[in-house]
Amino acid sequence: MKLAFAGTGYINKIHALAAKSAGAELTAVVNHQPESMAKFAAEFGIPRQYGSVEALLKAGGVEALVVSTPNYLHAEQTISALEAGLHVLVEKPMAMNATEAAAMQTTAEKAGKTLMVAHMWRFDPEAIWLRAQIAAGRIGKIIRTKGCGVHVKWGPGGWFTQKKFAGGGAMADMGVHALDTVRFLLGDPQPVSVYAKIGTYYGAYDVDDTGLVIVNWENGATSYFEFGWWQPHADQPNAGTQLYGQAGFASLFPTRIETKDSVDDGGFSPRTEHRALQGMYDAQMKYFLACARTGAHPIPGGQEGWANIKVVDAAYESSRTGKVVEVQ
Ligand SMILES: NC(=O)c1ccc[n+]([C@@H]2O[C@H](COP(=O)([O-])OP(=O)(O)OC[C@H]3O[C@@H](n4cnc5c(N)ncnc54)[C@H](O)[C@@H]3O)[C@@H](O)[C@H]2O)c1
Repeated sequence: MKLAFAGTGYINKIHALAAKSAGAELTAVVNHQPESMAKFAAEFGIPRQYGSVEALLKAGGVEALVVSTPNYLHAEQTISALEAGLHVLVEKPMAMNATEAAAMQTTAEKAGKTLMVAHMWRFDPEAIWLRAQIAAGRIGKIIRTKGCGVHVKWGPGGWFTQKKFAGGGAMADMGVHALDTVRFLLGDPQPVSVYAKIGTYYGAYDVDDTGLVIVNWENGATSYFEFGWWQPHADQPNAGTQLYGQAGFASLFPTRIETKDSVDDGGFSPRTEHRALQGMYDAQMKYFLACARTGAHPIPGGQEGWANIKVVDAAYESSRTGKVVEVQ
C-alpha cells in the first residue's frame, strides 16, 4: 500500500514507524513547512514531498493518507483525499464538530473508501482483553462507568490551545480518549443525553482545560468521565476506565475483572509508567492497511468517530446552557 502522511509532527512519526513495521510503502509527505517536511522525509526515507494535500492528490500515485494535522484541517484534508479515491486514517478528534464528521463519513460511503479514526486505545492488548471479558458477560449488565483523560501538572501548547485550530481544548484532546475507550468497552452504544461542566482554570488560552461529563447510553448504562490539562491530581491514568456491572467490576489500567468469587487480572501486571506504547499504534496501522486492502469496514470508522464528536458537541452545549442535552 502506497502511503502518504499529512503533517510531520509528534504523532505522524509514530504512525510512520508503524507503517514501516507493517511493510507499507512510505511514498509521500505533506507539510506547508519545507524544513520540517524534509527532516521527516529523510528520517523515514520518503521520496516525495508536497506543500499541500491538493498538490499531492494532483500528482497522484498514492493509495492512502494518514491525516495528523491540527484538528481544523482534518475534515478538509480527509474529504479531498477520499474524493480523490484514497483511503484515510485520520487522527482524533475526527473533526471540529459533528457537521464536519458527518460530511467525512458521507464522503467515505459515497467514495467506497476506508475511513478510519485513530482511536488507538482500542488496539491496546489490555483494552482488547477487557472488552472480550465484558462481551462474554463476566460482569453482567453494566450500570455505570467512571473514566479519565487527564494530564497532571502539564498540558500542551501551540495550536492545541487555540480554538480556531483545535476546536476545543482538553475535551477535544483528552476527553475524547476517555470517551472512546468507554464506548469501546461497552460495545459502542449510541449516546442518548449528555450533561457536562467544562471550563478554563489553569492557563491563558481560549479553550477549556477542565471538565466532567455524564453520558446516558441507549443500553441504559451511564458513564462519567473527567478530563483536563495541568490538573493537580488524577485518580486514574489516561484511558483508565472502571465499569460497575450487576455481576462484578471491571477495570482498565490497572486491568482486572472482579466477581463475587474471583479476581482475574488477565495476566497483565499494572504498568509502572503509563504511556501510549508503540505496539498499539503498530496494531492500529496494520488493521487500517488490512481494511483498506480488503474493503472491510473498520471499527473505529467514521461512524464511531462521529458518535464521539456528537458527545463532544453536546458536552460543550450542556456546559454552556447548564442543561442536559439530548443527542440526535
Ligand atoms: N492518538 C494519539 O495518541 C495522539 C497523540 C498526539 C496527537 N494526536 C492528534 O494528532 C493530530 C496532530 O497532533 P500532533 O501532536 O502530531 O501535533 P504536531 O503539532 O506535533 O504536528 C502537527 C503537524 O501538522 C503540520 N501542519 C500544520 N498545518 C499543515 C498543513 N496545512 N498541511 C500539512 N501539515 C500541516 C505541522 O507543521 C506539524 O508537522 C491532532 O489531531 C492530535 O489530536 C493524537
